Amino acid sequence: MTIPTPTPADKFSFGLWTINWTGQDQFGAATRRPFDPVAVLEELARLGAWGITFHDDDLIPFGTPAAEREDIIARFEAGLARTGIVCEMVTTNTFSHPLFKDGAFTANDRAARRYGLRKVLRNVDLAARLGAATFVMWGGREGAEYDWSKDYKAALDRYREGIDTVAAYIKQQGYSLRIALEPKPNEPRGDILLPTVGHALAFIATLDHADIVGLNPEVGHEQMACLNYTAGIAQALWQGKLFHIDLNGQKSIKYDQDLVFGHGDLLSAFGTVDLLENGFPGGGPRYDGPRHFDYKPSRTESEAEVWDTVQANMTTYLLLKERALAFRGDPEVQEALRVSQVDQLARPTLDAGETLDSFLGDPANFEQVDVDALGARSAGFVRLNQLALEHLLGAR
Ligand code: GCO
Ligand code: MN
Ligand code: MN
Repeated sequence: MTIPTPTPADKFSFGLWTINWTGQDQFGAATRRPFDPVAVLEELARLGAWGITFHDDDLIPFGTPAAEREDIIARFEAGLARTGIVCEMVTTNTFSHPLFKDGAFTANDRAARRYGLRKVLRNVDLAARLGAATFVMWGGREGAEYDWSKDYKAALDRYREGIDTVAAYIKQQGYSLRIALEPKPNEPRGDILLPTVGHALAFIATLDHADIVGLNPEVGHEQMACLNYTAGIAQALWQGKLFHIDLNGQKSIKYDQDLVFGHGDLLSAFGTVDLLENGFPGGGPRYDGPRHFDYKPSRTESEAEVWDTVQANMTTYLLLKERALAFRGDPEVQEALRVSQVDQLARPTLDAGETLDSFLGDPANFEQVDVDALGARSAGFVRLNQLALEHLLGAR
């Protein structure tokens, strides 16, 4: 097998904060220096990546005076134009500054909430200016450590007010941006509001402007909650809410590891790529957005090796894609899918036009069923999984 080479057509994008993570953590100092953001664009273009994403503060340090801010943005814009790298998503840092210690949209302190909203709206303008399609909102500080410190009902009201206000602003300005909420169960808060894909989907349904609000699910975040990422994005897709994705690697329930994509649960990563590249077995909505990586180059790696880790994400994705295409194209797999009746699930349980009365009155549905024979039918799911594994390992 040869190592595939990424091209912009693969739509790989990276967070500026991922490449520029210096390795500073709770226990140790930085092990690397950050790169000049324009140098990041150049290097990404050289490696065959397509897009960049960033938090306001990744590019423009918090508190930068307005004139200097404009210079930084103009220089970055020129870098985008020169390299052809697309700024596909912008997001706001509402978690680093001490004023956000209790959140931005759900802080008990109203002045902190008003500042947070103002900072987000300013960044919406920047996102629109740079032509981004998606505005991610990760509420890492929206949460609590102690149940008595937060009126959860009021917090959800304020969260809804905040998101609806941002969405209304986007519409009022005529921007074509869509908001993507990013769930996470915990870290940095003890518990974060909208902890999983499911919580966030239910929350979105309550919004006035739900039409432009969807999700940006992250592999590691769902796995920190012991959930299946592929199943989570599948439901988001089914509900028309998969606006963006954060790909990375995580090994079970622990701190947010942000490993290279595929360096955590590889079989799960294979399932994710299979869904993204091949879609549902019976057809249906597809994700055609950016393949965005939100990982961290481990702090053990040198500055030069950061680019190897960037490449590792793209290579892993492309290898999994190659394997996923081979898997679905294999006649033996197609036959195993048929044996497992995977194709039968697309058929509605009731016939077209069948009334509930005729269903209830038909003894073939209940009284005449040989339940033991039905229970004894083989599902063949293990064989299917073994075929997936053999394709993943390159044995087929
Ligand atoms: C995290 C999150 C963030 C967000 C980012 C974009 O766990 O720190 O994944 O990296 O993705 O803030 O909004
Ligand atoms: Mn994360
Ligand atoms: Mn993320």
